[in-house]
Amino acid sequence: MVRTDYVIDEMISAKSIAARIEALAGEIRKEFRDTEKLIVVGLLRGSFVFIADLVRELDLPVEVDFVEASSYGDTMQSSREVRILKDLRGEIAGRDVLVVEDIVDTGHTLARVTDYLRHRGPARLKTIALLDKPARREVPFKADWIGFAIPDEFVVGYGIDYAQRNRNLPYIGKVRFPEETG
Ligand code: PRP
Repeated sequence: MVRTDYVIDEMISAKSIAARIEALAGEIRKEFRDTEKLIVVGLLRGSFVFIADLVRELDLPVEVDFVEASSYGDTMQSSREVRILKDLRGEIAGRDVLVVEDIVDTGHTLARVTDYLRHRGPARLKTIALLDKPARREVPFKADWIGFAIPDEFVVGYGIDYAQRNRNLPYIGKVRFPEETG
């Protein structure tokens, strides 16, 4: 059963996220300054807010594409089985690619997706995740850029959902159930 009687405490403000994205975009621009075109690949659905803000800070020729990989249902449990539900529309062979993810948790999703994309022979493949929960890692994976490393809290907002809710919150919030203390 999915509970709906929870409260959300702000954890990372919209302002902090925007400032961090500006700084990260600067680093990405530096890394790919010589690129002919950067293919920015968002992982649906959680990355849609982050990728929208990130590409608007990237003063580079970009193409935007999406992959959908699913490892979670409408619960907090990971099935650990990552399926590719929707593939890229464009070619990435010989191209520069930046994979954009909302959160790295166990690491299964990005480990699997980057492995899958590497088989297509990109020139350079880098990864960025807005949030990282290193304490939850089950497979070794380290994104090239991380927005914020966070403790093992249940978070929502800025694209991240709980049972498909709260993706539209402009900040990252921590879910708290009423019986828990603050
Ligand atoms: C969530 C999140 C990441 C992934 C991270 O996606 O958006 O993609 O889990 O978890 P992992 O590191 O343990 O693999 P989810 O499958 O819930 O889909 P969504 O992006 O559509 O919300």
